[in-house]
Amino acid sequence: MIRFEHVGLRYGVGPEVLSDIDFTLEPGSFHFLTGPSGAGKTSLMRLMYLGRKPTRGLITMFGKSINQMEREQLASIRQRIGVVFQEFRLLPHLSAFDNVALPLRIIGRPEKEVQNNVDELLEWVGLGDYKRALPPTLSGGQQQRVAIARAVIARPKLLLADEPTGNLDDEIGVRLMNLFDQLNRMGTTIVVATHSQHIMDQFGHPRLALSEGGLKVEEKKHWIQKKIEGVF
Ligand SMILES: Nc1ncnc2c1ncn2[C@@H]1O[C@H](COP(=O)(O)OP(=O)(O)OP(=O)(O)O)[C@@H](O)[C@H]1O
Ligand SMILES: [Mg+2]
Repeated sequence: MIRFEHVGLRYGVGPEVLSDIDFTLEPGSFHFLTGPSGAGKTSLMRLMYLGRKPTRGLITMFGKSINQMEREQLASIRQRIGVVFQEFRLLPHLSAFDNVALPLRIIGRPEKEVQNNVDELLEWVGLGDYKRALPPTLSGGQQQRVAIARAVIARPKLLLADEPTGNLDDEIGVRLMNLFDQLNRMGTTIVVATHSQHIMDQFGHPRLALSEGGLKVEEKKHWIQKKIEGVF
């Protein structure tokens, strides 16, 4: 699904914020992405949703190298990716309903289906009473739930979520993680950036751990072991 080989990223003339990143994500996998603030989680997400090109190295997505890709090909790959941005990026002049409906309308789903699916999902994330609300009138946690609903509504092949539960209380956070698990069981490949130890412990997916620009892939047994060593 995704392969990074010796990937590096710098912004302008600044230092490399990601160095020699190597990993492969299999179709249908579910990973957490962790690392301290400033470690490069959002930057790595940007490379994965094709928001930026790497300054060195090779990235393969859906079996194709993105380095030489034309604009239209990049756009067609982006349509298969759902993204929950750390800062939500909702369209402020569109209602919660219309923000969530957007990906379905872009791919031309019949309006009846759009109405049913968006209504159902907004109810499910607890925003049934806020369908007509504009994002600036919603709380941070409510906006985050709209952003999550928009990212998953069109059943993307790849879901990238940057701190998707950062503004939610534990109960709603776990409910939304269960939604991601359900999507994953239906075949969506998922990467969730999170600081929440609670969520990582509870769901136990392997993690991509970023530190000092480098990345390690850790299975759950490794980080549970590290935690135990930290306690004793
Ligand atoms: N658009 C940008 N222009 C220049 N530097 C940037 C830009 N975005 C991020 N950086 C730098 O890249 C590094 C990694 O930032 P990034 O936002 O990827 O970290 P993060 O792990 O997502 O942090 P957080 O947990 O706080 O969200 C930081 O040093 C940051 O200053
Ligand atoms: Mg970030």
